[in-house]
Amino acid sequence: MGKQGNFRGKKASKKENGNKQESKVSSQTSGSKKRRCCGGGCLCFFVLLSALLGGVGVLYSNQEYCTQLDKVLRQYAGNEMVDEGYHKAKDAWQFVKPYAEIAQEKGTELFHKVKESSEIVLDKGTELFYKAKEEIEKLLNDPKSTKDKTEQEQKLSEEKRKAEEKRLAEEKLKAEEKRKAEEKRVAEEKRKAEEKRIAEEKRVAEEKRIAEGKRIAEEKKKAEEKRLAEEKRIAEEKRIAEEKRIAEEKRKAEEKRKAKEKKKEEERIAEERRKEEEKRLAEEKKKTEEKRKAEEKKLAEEKRKEEERKAEEKRKAEAKKKEEERKAEEKKLAEEKKKQEERKLAEEKQRAEEKRLAEEKKRQEEKKKVDESKESEAKKKEAEKTDAEIRRLEEEFKKHEEERQMEEKKLVEQKKKEEEQRLVEQKRKEEQKLAEQKKKEEEQKMAEQRLAEQKRKEEDKLAEQKKKKEEEKKIAEEMRKREELNKANDEREGKFVLEEDEDVNFEKATYPKKDITNDEDYNISDLLDLGDDFIQEKNLERANDHFEQLLTKYPNSPRALYGKARSLDKLAEKQRSNKMLEEAIATYQKVMDAKDTPDELFKKAGLKLGEKLEFRGWNSKAAATYQNLVSKFPSDITVRKKLGVSYLLMGQNEKARRVFSDILDIDKGNNFARVHLGFIVKVTDNNPLESIPLLRAIMESNSKEIQEGKFYFQLGDAYQRLNQTEKAYEVYERGVKKGLFLSKYQRSLYNCDGIKAQPWWKPEETGYQQYLKILTDNWKLIRDEGMKQIDPKTGSFLPEQENLLDKGQWMQFTLYARGKKNAKNCAKVPKVCDLLDQITPAKSCVRGQIKYSLMKPGVHVWPHCGPTNCRIRAHLGLVIPEGPKIRVADETRTWKEGQFIIIDDSFEHEVWHTGASDRLILIVDFWHPDIDEKTRRTLDPI
Ligand code: LMR
Ligand code: MN
Repeated sequence: MGKQGNFRGKKASKKENGNKQESKVSSQTSGSKKRRCCGGGCLCFFVLLSALLGGVGVLYSNQEYCTQLDKVLRQYAGNEMVDEGYHKAKDAWQFVKPYAEIAQEKGTELFHKVKESSEIVLDKGTELFYKAKEEIEKLLNDPKSTKDKTEQEQKLSEEKRKAEEKRLAEEKLKAEEKRKAEEKRVAEEKRKAEEKRIAEEKRVAEEKRIAEGKRIAEEKKKAEEKRLAEEKRIAEEKRIAEEKRIAEEKRKAEEKRKAKEKKKEEERIAEERRKEEEKRLAEEKKKTEEKRKAEEKKLAEEKRKEEERKAEEKRKAEAKKKEEERKAEEKKLAEEKKKQEERKLAEEKQRAEEKRLAEEKKRQEEKKKVDESKESEAKKKEAEKTDAEIRRLEEEFKKHEEERQMEEKKLVEQKKKEEEQRLVEQKRKEEQKLAEQKKKEEEQKMAEQRLAEQKRKEEDKLAEQKKKKEEEKKIAEEMRKREELNKANDEREGKFVLEEDEDVNFEKATYPKKDITNDEDYNISDLLDLGDDFIQEKNLERANDHFEQLLTKYPNSPRALYGKARSLDKLAEKQRSNKMLEEAIATYQKVMDAKDTPDELFKKAGLKLGEKLEFRGWNSKAAATYQNLVSKFPSDITVRKKLGVSYLLMGQNEKARRVFSDILDIDKGNNFARVHLGFIVKVTDNNPLESIPLLRAIMESNSKEIQEGKFYFQLGDAYQRLNQTEKAYEVYERGVKKGLFLSKYQRSLYNCDGIKAQPWWKPEETGYQQYLKILTDNWKLIRDEGMKQIDPKTGSFLPEQENLLDKGQWMQFTLYARGKKNAKNCAKVPKVCDLLDQITPAKSCVRGQIKYSLMKPGVHVWPHCGPTNCRIRAHLGLVIPEGPKIRVADETRTWKEGQFIIIDDSFEHEVWHTGASDRLILIVDFWHPDIDEKTRRTLDPI
C-alpha cells in the first residue's frame, strides 16, 4: 500500500495542482463515508478513483458529468443497492487498476496515456462508473474478501485488460488510421477546396483586377484624353492670348510709333513755328529797332534843326537888335556928327567913319568868333550826346537781348505748357466729342420731338382751319337768316314793331355790351361778340378777317368798325407797323364818324384814337379828338385831362392852363389838374410862389398819375428860387426815394442807366484828350473868331432862353445843337467850325450843344440841372477876368484861359460873375464816354 501511498501522495499533489473544484467535489462526496473507511484498500480505491476521475475531469472539464457522478456516488453511498454497486465498483476498479498502476509506474507520461484512453473510458463511462461504485461499496462492506477477490479478478481483468488493451490498441490504431485517413481526406478535400477557392478567388481577383485594370486603363485613357484636350484647349487659349497679346503689343508699338512720329512731327512743326516766330520776332525787333533808330534819328534831326532854327532865330534877333542898336548909335553919331560938322573937318568925319567901320568889322569878327565858338560848342555837345546815345542804345540792345533770351525761355516753357495744355485739350476734346455725340443724340431726339410737335401743330392747324370754315359757314348761314328776318320785318312794316321792340329791349337790357351796341348791331351781336372773342384770344388776323367780312355786309356797323380798329391796332403793335397803326387810326375815326355810334363806343373809340394819334406824334389831331370828346362829354374829367396833357405836349400851355382850370372848376381839389396847372404857373409864368401850393399836390397825394419827375423838379426849383433851400431838398430827396431822380444833386430827367456819375471830370477820365488838345492848341483862334461876334451888330449872341438867369446878362452863340451844325452861325466862325468838325464825339452828340457863352459882370445863374446825364460838358476858358465862378454839386471852381474844365451838368450847378469885364467860354458837350456807339445812335435828341 506504500506504493499506493506514494501514488496517493503523488496524486494528491497532482490534485492540489489540478482542478480545485473537482477536489472539492471529491472531499464533499466522501465526507460522510470517511468515518467508516479506515483500511488502506479503501483509501487506495478512492485515490485511484479520484485520480481517474480527476484525469477524466481534467480531460473533459465536464462540469455536467462531474455533477452527475457526484450525484450517483451520493446515491450509492446511502443506497440499499449495495451489492450491485459493489460489483460494479469492483469491475471499475479492475478496469481502472492497471491504468492506475501504470500511471503510478510511469508517472506523468503514462498518465497522458490514460488521458488518451479516456475517450474509450468515456464510451463506457457509465458502465465503468458503476463498476467503480460497486468496487467501492464492496470495499466498504467487506474489505478482506474484497482483497482476495480483487487479486483474482485482478489477474483476470489483467488479461482481459491486456486483450482489451490490445483490442483497444488495435481499434485505436485502426481508428487512428481511419481518423488520419479521414483527416487526410478531409485535409485533402479541404486543401483542394481551399486551392479551388483560392484559384477561384484568384481568378475572380484576376478578372476583377483585369476589369479594374481595364477600367483604370479606360479611365486613365479618358483622363489622358481629357488632359490632352484640356492641354490642347489651354494651349489654344494660350496661343490665342499670345496672339492677342502680340497683336496688342504690336498695336501699342504701332500707336507708340505713330504717337512718336506725331510728336516728332509736332515738335518739328513747333520747332519750325518757333523758328518762324523767332525769325518774325527778330525781324520785328529789327524793324522796331530800325524804326526806333529812324525815329530817334528823325527826332534828333528835328531837334537839331529846331535848335539850329532857334539858334538862327536868336542869332538873327541878336543881329537885328545889334543892328538896331547900331542904327541908333549911327543916328546918334550922325547927329553928333551933324553937330560937329560945323566944328570938325572932313578928315575927322573920315576918321570917324573909318573908326566906325573898323569897329564894325571888329564887331563882326567878334560876332563871327562867338558864332563859331557857339557852333563848335553845339557840335561838341552833339558829339557827346551821340556818344551817350550810342551807350544808351547799346544798353538798350543788351536789355533787348536779355529780354529776347527771357522770351526764348518763356517760349520753351510756353511750349511745354502748350503741350500739356494740348494734352488736356485733347482729353477735353475727346470728352467734348463724347458730350457732343450725346448732345447730338439728344438733339436728334429733340428734332424728332420737334418734328412730332410740328406734325401735331400742322394737324391742329388743319383742324383749326376746318373749324374756321365750319364757323364761317355757320356765320354765313346766320347772316342769311338775319337778312331774311330783317326782310320779313320790313315787309310787315312795323305791324308788330311795338311788341317786338319791347322784347328786344328786354333782352338787350341784360346784354353786357348793351352800352356800346346799337339796335342794328344788337341783331348781329353774336357775330360781333365772336369777333371780340378772337381779339380776346389774341387771334388777331382772324379777328381782323372776321370784322372785315362783317363790314362787307354791315359797312356802317359801329361795333364792327371798332372791332376792326382794335384788331388793326393790336396787329400794328405786334408787328410794329406804322401803316397798320394809321389804318387803325382811320378806322377808329370811322367809328366816331358813323351815324349811329352809341356814346360809350364813341368815347371808347375817341380815347383810343387820341392815344394812337399821340403815339404817332400827331399831337394836334390828338388834341382835336379830345376836344371833340370834351364837347360831347363836358362833364367827363378823364377826357379833359387828356386834352390838357395833349396841349402841354404841343407846348400850348395857355390852352392847357384853361383846360386844367376848367377841371378845377368842376372838381376843386383835382390833384391832376393842380399839378399841371402848378407846372404851367411855374414854367410859363415863372411864378414860383403861386406854383408851390398847386405843385405841392405831389407831396400831399400818392396818386400815381401825378408822381412825375418834372413836378418834383419844378417844385424844388420854386423853393430854391424863393431861397427855401431846405424845403427844396425835402422835395428832391422825396423824388430820389420815388426813383424819379438819380440823386439829390443829379436831377436830369432823360437818363441813361448804369453810367459813371460824378460832378467833375478830369480830361484823362474822358478818353477825349486828343479832341480836347485840338481845341486847346487853337484856343486863341477860337477866342479871336468868337470875340469878333460879340458886337451886337452881328446878332450872333442871343440871351439865354431857359429861364435860368437870376440877374445880369448872359448870352450864347450856338454852333452845334442836337448833333446838328448851325451852318449860318458856323459861317461866321469858319475856322472854329473846321476844328469842331474834327471833334466827332461832340459834334455827333444829339443830346448837347457846342456854343460860346458870354457873361457880363453881375450875373447869377440859378442852381439848375441839365436835362440829361448822357453827356459831359467841357468849358474852354477864352476870356477869363477875375470874378466868375461855378459850383457843381458841392465844389466851386473857376476857368483859366486856354484850359478846359469838365463837368457833368446833370448835377446841380450855379454860376456867378462878380468881376468887372466880360467872361467868354466855349461850351462843348461830348457824349458821356460810357455810352456805346449803338446807344448813341438810338437816343432821341435833346
Ligand atoms: C451852364 O452850363 O449852365 C453854365 O455853366 C454856362 C456858363 O456859361 O457858365
Ligand atoms: Mn447849365
